[in-house]
Amino acid sequence: MTTSQQPRAQWLGRWGFLLAATGSAVGLGNIWKFPYITGEFGGGAFVLVYLVCIFAVGVPVMMTEISLGRRGRGSPVDAIRRVIHESGRGSLWSLLGWMGMLCGFMVLSFYVVVAGWSFSYLWKMLSGGITGSSVDDMVAVFSANNQSPLNLGFWSTLVTLATMFIVGKGVQKGIEKSVGWMMPGLVLMLLLLIIYGAFSGGFGEAVHFLFAFDAGSLSSAGMLAALGHAFFTLSLASGAILTYGSYLPSSASIGRTAIGVAIADTVVALMAGLAIFPAIFANGMDPGEGPGLIFMSLPLAFQSMPLGTLFGVLFFAMLSMAALTSSISMIEATLSWLCDNKGLSRPQAAWGAGIVLWLVSTLAMLSFNVGADWTLFGKNFFDWLDYLTSRLMMPLGGLGMVVLAGFVLKGEIFRKELALSPLMHAVWLFMVRYVSPLGILVVFIDALGLYQVSFAAHWPWLLAILVAMVVAGELSSPRLARTLR
Ligand code: PFF
Repeated sequence: MTTSQQPRAQWLGRWGFLLAATGSAVGLGNIWKFPYITGEFGGGAFVLVYLVCIFAVGVPVMMTEISLGRRGRGSPVDAIRRVIHESGRGSLWSLLGWMGMLCGFMVLSFYVVVAGWSFSYLWKMLSGGITGSSVDDMVAVFSANNQSPLNLGFWSTLVTLATMFIVGKGVQKGIEKSVGWMMPGLVLMLLLLIIYGAFSGGFGEAVHFLFAFDAGSLSSAGMLAALGHAFFTLSLASGAILTYGSYLPSSASIGRTAIGVAIADTVVALMAGLAIFPAIFANGMDPGEGPGLIFMSLPLAFQSMPLGTLFGVLFFAMLSMAALTSSISMIEATLSWLCDNKGLSRPQAAWGAGIVLWLVSTLAMLSFNVGADWTLFGKNFFDWLDYLTSRLMMPLGGLGMVVLAGFVLKGEIFRKELALSPLMHAVWLFMVRYVSPLGILVVFIDALGLYQVSFAAHWPWLLAILVAMVVAGELSSPRLARTLR
């Protein structure tokens, strides 16, 4: 139901969607999380599995989401409802849209806190506030930053305000315009940082660490983390990509665009690794440091390097921009829904959503100080938001979306939206109907702690299940063969 009389906005420029979707995908996930999980799971072999997950599961799911958005021309809730009606199916499926929209909102509620760290470190670097000569000193700086709710709250509030300011201005004047300069700026800064890293002495080691393949370091936990992270880093099942897809002109190629976003996202993640690890290795630090890698090890490493402060500023400026172009995408689904269904203007919707977001994110921020002990089953509020979204809602939403596309909706919708050759369409369909659901289920079962799947030990079983799924699926609703005919 659309109450506004205005036609739906569309990206203005040829690069509008690609830049905005890449801005959404490239974020803290690439620069903060990817390097440290690569460090934890042992480097090159993990990177390889991650690449397979991105292209075998992430890209087909992203193509599905963009198609749903463009076909339904609305927020996840409205778009999914429309395509379901078009296919004459039950409206229970529209719960998927609600879950996606809620997931984006929940991710943003804790994302602004981490983005707030980045902004505060940028400020610290600018004002010369990070001093110390040991890891312990850096841990102390980090804890002191979190200790005061006023300080931490100030930075997350700033991120919330900046996000709302941009989205409030609209799709073209707000989102498209801001990503138009932030994305090129980000790539430029990363390049400068890599060049700097190349002269720091640890570059060779960093390259070896990221690209040397050592099958022995490949663990099942690493494979599961790779697939889970593929969803997060491509912004899937959170309403962001679907809503951005709803502004995509009908003439744009969805397949090519999705592959473009995935390549750009991967390249930036690897570039971030090449910018961070040289400094870590040059200073003899541990690449598997964990979440503190860029907030503790990196500032320390910069301290002992020539022009370190300057490049520290550059690094945190880059990280802050990456976070902001992701934040704006997470709230866009909610904004689009509010404007279409509640008759609000963009600024009204932005301020309304912003106030609720501020309240929830303040609770998440308190998990680092006064609310650290407000726990339920051992997790505080911040941890719950993270766990519920990346471990449960994203896999479940992704699973719902591929089942919807592969089995429930009319095949005609995707044939028209994707407009692929018969062979490529069959590949997409195979991934969406069988490979993605199986992959997501394995991750999901692991996340729930139901069973520990080991790829090394269970691969014959997994292959047998895949074959059984194909046979059952094609007997009950033969689509693959029909596509190829
Ligand atoms: N892709 C973003 C990152 O890697 O940091 C995170 C993200 C953005 C998740 C948008 C979900 C979302 F809707």
